[in-house]
Amino acid sequence: MTEKERLLNETHQQFMETGLNSPEKLGIMDHLTSPDLMGFGTTIDERIFSVADLKSLITRQREQSQGMEIVWTINPVLRKVTHGGNVAVYVDEITLELTVNNEKIKIALRYSNVLEYRDDKWVVIHFHGSKPENVATEEDTWGIEEWKTKNAALEKLVKERTAELEKSLIELKATQAQLIHSEKMASLGELTAGIAHEIQNPLNFVNNFSEVNSELISELVDEIDKGNTAEVKLIAADIKENSGKINHHGKRADAIVKGMLQHSNISSGKKEPTDINALSDEYLRLSYHGLRAKDNSFNATMKTDFDPSIGNVNIVPQDIGRVILNLISNAFYAVNEQSKKGIQGYLPTVEVGTKRTGNKIEVMVKDNGNGIPARVLDKIFQPFFTTKPTGQGTGLGLSLSYDIVKAHGGELKVDTIEGECTIFTIELNVTG
Ligand SMILES: Nc1ncnc2c1ncn2[C@@H]1O[C@H](COP(=O)(O)OP(=O)(O)O)[C@@H](O)[C@H]1O
Ligand SMILES: [Mg+2]
Repeated sequence: MTEKERLLNETHQQFMETGLNSPEKLGIMDHLTSPDLMGFGTTIDERIFSVADLKSLITRQREQSQGMEIVWTINPVLRKVTHGGNVAVYVDEITLELTVNNEKIKIALRYSNVLEYRDDKWVVIHFHGSKPENVATEEDTWGIEEWKTKNAALEKLVKERTAELEKSLIELKATQAQLIHSEKMASLGELTAGIAHEIQNPLNFVNNFSEVNSELISELVDEIDKGNTAEVKLIAADIKENSGKINHHGKRADAIVKGMLQHSNISSGKKEPTDINALSDEYLRLSYHGLRAKDNSFNATMKTDFDPSIGNVNIVPQDIGRVILNLISNAFYAVNEQSKKGIQGYLPTVEVGTKRTGNKIEVMVKDNGNGIPARVLDKIFQPFFTTKPTGQGTGLGLSLSYDIVKAHGGELKVDTIEGECTIFTIELNVTG
């Protein structure tokens, strides 16, 4: 071995040792490298264009590996000297064994050094370190197999998640349909109880007056037998008047039954000129008696303030009726809750009113319940939003009401003062 070869091995050895093992001797790098040294490390930012760069890279690596025990071995792969013995390429495979928290990690590195003989000494002019990735086969230089496996796993995951989502969507739709149904049934139940109560009243008239009439007819026959024509005429007039009353109350019962049929969606749902005052009044009473039928401790004052100038409004009566019913039920619920608090002198009151201004009509439902807290207010029109205990609310009343009013080209608005009152207003436009 010539002195030049010995020097070459020594320079390479010192360069590797300082880089891997002895950063405290970093100063030596000034002698072992060319000032325009260039090098590529294994990470993206490891690009070296000077000795200073190299020194700071080694310092950084040292900081990162603090507290780790590192053992390294070098296996020479290539030793080549060319260009008249003045340029050398040294290639090594290095194995680093790190011990971190009692765990051994093995890292393989590939390392190439290019050295040049200048001014009687060898200096490193270029190096490249690389860390071979875990690749599947010799042919898998770019680690494509790993990407494929990852992609396949991702695709599988996406398929699974999609299937799960589809399943929950179907379940959600079923639940939604069921809830809409139960909201309809609940309001129908309330309505039916109210209707039964309402029908009772005209039926009482019909029964009473028909009994009175049959007594009057017996009297009439007696008077005919006696030939008392003047008395006969008087009794006949009474019978006629009573029969008029029977007819009147029979028609009332008839109208109530028709209303019930309309609410259960048997009718067509066409717009028709509707006396909105009568409709509101009717639903107010039906709702009240419906609630009373369920809970006879329930009590509230009903007030009405109808604008007589309102005339007939072109609406789908059973739909707007349902909105009014929903608003009134919510209002009764609110005042009932408030009255349970036992506040001295509290008078639960629900008021329904109408107003016409130009081509705009308004139906207002006002209650002096607890009001709607600000944090709840922007959610009340959302489907399924409810603050009521399970079984008492579906959270669909206001969302359905909102949709119905929108479908009529109108607006459903709410004003509330916490602890004092709530006013819901249906605004509709009447053309002409
Ligand atoms: N008059 C009212 N006073 C206070 N809160 C109300 C009133 N009307 C509606 N709310 C609130 O809006 C929520 C949603 O109402 P709604 O859609 O009718 O569903 P539900 O009556 O089934 O709860 C109620 O749970 C309640 O919190
Ligand atoms: Mg409701």
